[in-house]
Amino acid sequence: MSHGKLWGGRFNESAADAMEALSRSVHFDWRLAPYDLRGSIAHAHILESAGLLTPAESQSIVEELTLMITQYHEGVLVPESSDEDVHGALERILVERLGEAGGKLRAGRSRNDQVVTDFRLFLRDAAAQIVVQLTDLADAFISQAEKHVQVAAPGFTHLQHAQPVSLGHEIAKHAHALLRDIDRLQDWDKRAAYSPLGAGALAGSALELDPKRSALELGFTDAVANSIDAVSDRDFAAEAAFVFALVGVHLSRIGEEWCLYASKEFGWVNLADAYSTGSSIMPQKKNPDVAELARGKSGRLIGNVVTILTMLKGLPFAYNRDLQEDKEPLFDSLDTLNVLLPAITGMIQTSTFNVDVISRSAPTGYSLATEIADWLVVRGMAFSIAHEVAGACVRQCEASGIDLGQLSDAELAQINPKLTPEVRQVLHVDGAIAGRSRFGGTAPAAVSLQIAALKSETSRTRAWAELKLASTL
Ligand code: ARG
Repeated sequence: MSHGKLWGGRFNESAADAMEALSRSVHFDWRLAPYDLRGSIAHAHILESAGLLTPAESQSIVEELTLMITQYHEGVLVPESSDEDVHGALERILVERLGEAGGKLRAGRSRNDQVVTDFRLFLRDAAAQIVVQLTDLADAFISQAEKHVQVAAPGFTHLQHAQPVSLGHEIAKHAHALLRDIDRLQDWDKRAAYSPLGAGALAGSALELDPKRSALELGFTDAVANSIDAVSDRDFAAEAAFVFALVGVHLSRIGEEWCLYASKEFGWVNLADAYSTGSSIMPQKKNPDVAELARGKSGRLIGNVVTILTMLKGLPFAYNRDLQEDKEPLFDSLDTLNVLLPAITGMIQTSTFNVDVISRSAPTGYSLATEIADWLVVRGMAFSIAHEVAGACVRQCEASGIDLGQLSDAELAQINPKLTPEVRQVLHVDGAIAGRSRFGGTAPAAVSLQIAALKSETSRTRAWAELKLASTL
């Protein structure tokens, strides 16, 4: 039979083992315990101010709850496997320690408002921790980008050589995606910062309890304005799951690039031994498992969003037991990112780029053909015609196995009389890159500005997360 059960008065028969086994959540919701205890401390203060706990009772309850938080972190506060859920287990322990006074804490609240308060508190902390790790990863890209601003690289579209770019530009692009993820989490936090505590089962409390006061004590902006919405809303969980999935998708795409870069065919990147694995049969192998796991684990992060949305979609707007299923997908997304992000960051920090290989291939694949078209446009030709002319140059080069710069004066003139020998002046990788100096462009000067802006962004996001985490458990 369950311990720590918070109901039962109206039942004649005890619950079936199968029913209890299905109902039990303590094996996964125990990680909400410190947040539940914090919520209980705020609730004790509210009960005291309503005259429902004496100052002495409130003090002894708050002291015991505070001790329990410490004991939780020391690993000595543990539930019984027979406890139903985290709320029941903590109340059982409190009553065992303080007697009847511990039971007074249940007045004016329900597990329905308690669990969702705990979950919001937990997720807000967890999201701030993810922001720190995303910032670490963004910084890893930024410092690699900074070292390679002057290195020319082939830029790709369709994974084919497209136009030459600065390697620093290519690397820094990832920091922008990660900073958008951080921005999403910061924006999410504003909506998650409303406290459901005080909503009770659904209707609020008839006791003189002020939900706004406990909201502020718990670091929320305010209380949720509708008590039914307070216990029914899980938008914050679905949104967080989505942001974590999108982070997963970004990590997956990074992983895919690093797998390619580390291949013999590309030969762009050497992975540090510390972030590579070997093969049990092929002694020569050095595998990019970190990058592959980044790609692979995105599947479960995406799956967790689908789990939450599917669980929610048929539910009446109130508390329903289905909502107990909201926690494990989010825990899994967080556990996944918490192992993935430090490993990816380490892999990026320790990767070394074979700059000779990279810059040698920057002009290959006729990646300077656009320069010819642009050169003709500046001289008055319509781009549609210039595009044809540059295409004819590529065709000619392909047929004779030469590069664009090797077309003779006669060959150029034959393709189009406007193609004078001066066109060769733009057939240089460095010039092509340096010419794209406008905002967001690939010229080293433009990339350096982008990197400076990224750096001030990451110091801002780090400060935001550190401030949030300073006030947590
Ligand atoms: N373990 C439950 C959950 O996670 C707590 C709320 C239970 N409420 C109830 N009315 N049975 O949702």
